[in-house]
Amino acid sequence: MNSKLSIGCLLLGLASTGCNVGGRGGGPTGGPRPEPSTTVPQASTDPVVRGAVLYHDNGCVLCHAEAGKGGKKNTNSETGGEINGLTLVKEGYSEAELIDKIASGVDKVGKDDPEGVTPPYHMPHFGDWLTHQELSDIAAYLFSLYPADRAAAFDNWDEE
Ligand code: HEC
Repeated sequence: MNSKLSIGCLLLGLASTGCNVGGRGGGPTGGPRPEPSTTVPQASTDPVVRGAVLYHDNGCVLCHAEAGKGGKKNTNSETGGEINGLTLVKEGYSEAELIDKIASGVDKVGKDDPEGVTPPYHMPHFGDWLTHQELSDIAAYLFSLYPADRAAAFDNWDEE
């Protein structure tokens, strides 16, 4: 391994500083090894991270707020006059159901007072815009928003 790297370095040009890998720190006379990078991975392999990006890029955040907290006013909606939060979807949806919900949206939001005004916001359908993989990533992100303390309580309740 090592010798291969050195030969590669020779071939690529001795003048380049690019072969100085590990020259700073880490060596017998060097300081401590450099810390591994802690920056957020880009186009991550983690579906939750990808889902969070999609949640923002597709405007979910405009209606459902940061981290799915909800609370935006939706006058006379049956969801308490506010757009619902999304942190508890884990309790009501399987992954497939959640993907289906985001894909289909909700055309007509139910009214709290049947005689009252039509709630201004409805849930758009995203099935034509997002791939199944993207919907699945968003679902993973929404599931990740589930509060840990509730998870524990819900597990116990589930077991009976
Ligand atoms: C224009 C505002 C708007 C946007 C943008 C929007 N939603 Fe919604 N969403 C709503 C409304 C309003 C409801 C409530 C519908 C109802 O009455 O059941 C809803 C409901 C939902 C539900 C059902 C929640 C439950 O508890 O049953 C999910 C899941 C959801 N939205 C996810 C998303 C995701 C993911 C995105 C982005 C890809 C998104 N929404 C974008 C307005 C929006």
